[in-house]
Amino acid sequence: MKIIDSIIHMQALAIAPEREGRRIAFVPTMGYLHEGHASLLREGRKRGDVLVLSIFVNPIQFGKNEDLDRYPRNMERDCQIADACGVDIVFIPNAAEMYPAGFQAGVTVRDISQPLCGASRPGHFDGVATVVAKLFNIVRPDVALFGCKDYQQLAVIRRMTADLNMPVEIVGMPIVREVDGLAMSSRNAYLAPSERQSALCLFRAVKLARELYAAGERSIAVLTREARAVIEQEPVAEIDYVEFRDGEMLHEQEIADDSTLLALAVKIGQTRLIDNTVLGEEL
Ligand code: PAJ
Repeated sequence: MKIIDSIIHMQALAIAPEREGRRIAFVPTMGYLHEGHASLLREGRKRGDVLVLSIFVNPIQFGKNEDLDRYPRNMERDCQIADACGVDIVFIPNAAEMYPAGFQAGVTVRDISQPLCGASRPGHFDGVATVVAKLFNIVRPDVALFGCKDYQQLAVIRRMTADLNMPVEIVGMPIVREVDGLAMSSRNAYLAPSERQSALCLFRAVKLARELYAAGERSIAVLTREARAVIEQEPVAEIDYVEFRDGEMLHEQEIADDSTLLALAVKIGQTRLIDNTVLGEEL
């Protein structure tokens, strides 16, 4: 496994497989890898001849008062996990090379970036789209894998690649959960033991909404009220949003159907967690 930190070096490495017709599979991450990331890497291993993992805590997708400085890092452990998943190249650029003095360009994916996390984290999806576009230009993947855990992010990336004719196949992968249902996230490391228990309210809300929908409930007003009530029962939980929207364009809806997305963001103490489910899809 090669570990590369220079952009030029990574670009040079990507050109050989391209010339030889070998497929590059790519998994972009911010590191502190867990089983969710590993599931993307294992699928990438199947879909590409060369598997590239990037680890970059992207400063431009963090707001001023967010957790950029304390985002968890463990490069040694990440490299062990990468190696075990069959990664060929780990690309670990540094921020000064990614965003040199004078950096000006950016990618905006308009409407789909606005609601949900876009509303509470202004500029976040511009930062995500910009870094992913840069990484695609550096790694030159044939296929890139993203988790449905970050549903809106996946929708933004799909839109960006389609609208800008980027020659990359985007693969969305199911949410990997802990045995008790908590969606895996690098940010779970922030949770104190008691908060870890409280964090289960997100999954409880997901499950209840799915049960109500399966039992025939179609009113988004009712589903929203019930899902919110589950979170509100948890004293340390503070709702950022609990919303049902159409799963493709993320428009508001009044009547739920199989493609309706429930997306939620909840603060547990200082830690903001997200989860989601599409009502007609398997959990
Ligand atoms: P990060 O949060 O490290 O996530 C990297 C990828 O792993 C994303 O595609 C995310 O959806 C996926 N992932 C995270 N938790 C998962 C889980 N429990 N199950 C399945 N997949 C999961 O998302 C980012 O980094 C960044 O925004 C990035 C795309 C790298 C751009 O900076």
